[in-house]
Amino acid sequence: MPLAASTAALFHKRTIRDADVRGKRALVRVDFNVPLENASVADDTRIRAALPTVRALLKGGAAVGLVSHLGRPKGRDPKLSLAPVAKRLAGLIGQPVALLDEYVGPEVERAVRAMNPGDLVMLENVRFHPEEEKNDPAFAKQLAAGFDLYVNDAFGTAHRAHASTEGVARFLPAYAGLLLEKELVALGGILDQPKRPFLAIIGGAKVSTKMDVLRSLVPRVDTLAIGGGMANTFLLAMGREVGRSLAEPDKETEARLVTDEVEGNGKELLLPVDVVAAPSADADGASGAATYDVDEVPSHLAIVDVGPRTIDRYARVIGNAKTIFWNGPLGVFEVPAFANGTRRVAELMASSGATTVVGGGESAQAVEEAGLADKMTHVSTGGGASLELIEGKTLPGVAAIPDR
Ligand code: 3PG
Ligand code: MG
Repeated sequence: MPLAASTAALFHKRTIRDADVRGKRALVRVDFNVPLENASVADDTRIRAALPTVRALLKGGAAVGLVSHLGRPKGRDPKLSLAPVAKRLAGLIGQPVALLDEYVGPEVERAVRAMNPGDLVMLENVRFHPEEEKNDPAFAKQLAAGFDLYVNDAFGTAHRAHASTEGVARFLPAYAGLLLEKELVALGGILDQPKRPFLAIIGGAKVSTKMDVLRSLVPRVDTLAIGGGMANTFLLAMGREVGRSLAEPDKETEARLVTDEVEGNGKELLLPVDVVAAPSADADGASGAATYDVDEVPSHLAIVDVGPRTIDRYARVIGNAKTIFWNGPLGVFEVPAFANGTRRVAELMASSGATTVVGGGESAQAVEEAGLADKMTHVSTGGGASLELIEGKTLPGVAAIPDR
């Protein structure tokens, strides 16, 4: 189901639609931090997600210089060159993409000034320079040299206050790209105006990394479903035994507070009622895996997935919900034998008819792998960034863009 048109009103930042880009040179921050395998792009989701902005700028008569990071290099590292990314982008967009060897300096500035409308160049990995992550103003100024305007379309990096995501907006007129806008409308929309019932499904390994997300969501949702490794800590808090499962006993009190708040406000909390448990959480454990009720998990086994009765309960709440937000796998989904719960949730959401928003990172990966991404209302390209947004934090890369 598409997002309600009214949610567009949630986004009040200046976007490229508000800019006259004809004849201008645009510095465009994208998040092309993509996985590489054998020096080639293994997943081009983030590259494809930036195409609407790049195409709109080129079509509008701008020359475009793209800037991105890749990985977390300590200084210049040929293994983290953006060359494979420039190659994939050229194929996707159907025009040459010149990769400049540098990101700032006289040669880059010369190349930028020599660009004609419709030209597309890419600067080398901006994190090769340590001043990027320090958000050094002199470096940001150098980055801006030769450009007329700045566009931030790097939602996945919007939670970082770096020179190319935040500092540069002080030296050039700044605009949001179309991906940045789409992400904020989709993720912001479920927080501000969810159609009800609103269901959040939160999984992932550790409750400690999801506590702020739970705190933000609990007052807003009608139903909260918790799965994955983090559910084990909730089960512990309820006095269950979880055997050799991953759990965080020091977070039991916080888990109990979440439980009390959900149930005390007449909302529904779904914890696993049955689980798949195995001798180990890797592929070797698959042959010894079986389904158990949550109060019968053998002490020598580890919980690796949700069980069929739990999935039936997910199916019921997914079927009732009008808005669904999902973040975090429901089991050890990287092991195919333990991916059932995660895959079923993706399938149930895809066919639900609700507004479905999937947080970035592992849940986005699971949805992509299942081939269901285009069946969702929105699949975020940002892992950490989408979490911080849902937590209610200000994203520096967004804050740096002036209001319309
Ligand atoms: C990501 O993939 O998380 C973003 O590209 C940001 O990268 P970072 O976590 O290394 O800052
Ligand atoms: Mg990250």
